[in-house]
Amino acid sequence: MSKVKVSRKAHFNAAHRLFRKDWSDEKNTSIFGKCSNPNYHGHNYELIVSVSGKIDPETGFVMDMKILKDLIKIEVEETLDHKNLNIEVEEFKSLNPTAENIAVFIFNKLRPHIALDKELEITLYETPRNFVMYSG
Ligand code: NI
Repeated sequence: MSKVKVSRKAHFNAAHRLFRKDWSDEKNTSIFGKCSNPNYHGHNYELIVSVSGKIDPETGFVMDMKILKDLIKIEVEETLDHKNLNIEVEEFKSLNPTAENIAVFIFNKLRPHIALDKELEITLYETPRNFVMYSG
């Protein structure tokens, strides 16, 4: 049976600040650059959620894309879209909301809802040129 990867694109806007409380302003600026702005700033995040697995012989689907679309809406967009990640998302009150950490967060939100015989892969663009991938 053929193994196929299906993907759904999504989008959210969010504000963040990258910094460590235990570092000086100088060190935060030198490591995190503009992303350490104390007044926060936004990114237009582009998300690609991919699910790999065998094609169901009955439906011809790897996964029903309508179900995947709704899952992304409920688990990701409603949690992150138009939020200040550092302030409004519990996970990022104590964890830097880097693209890496956000990708892992999204994976962990979606993984319990995807069948165990399917592989899940998260691709997250923080800018059109910077993106990260996580698959567990
Ligand atoms: Ni940033």
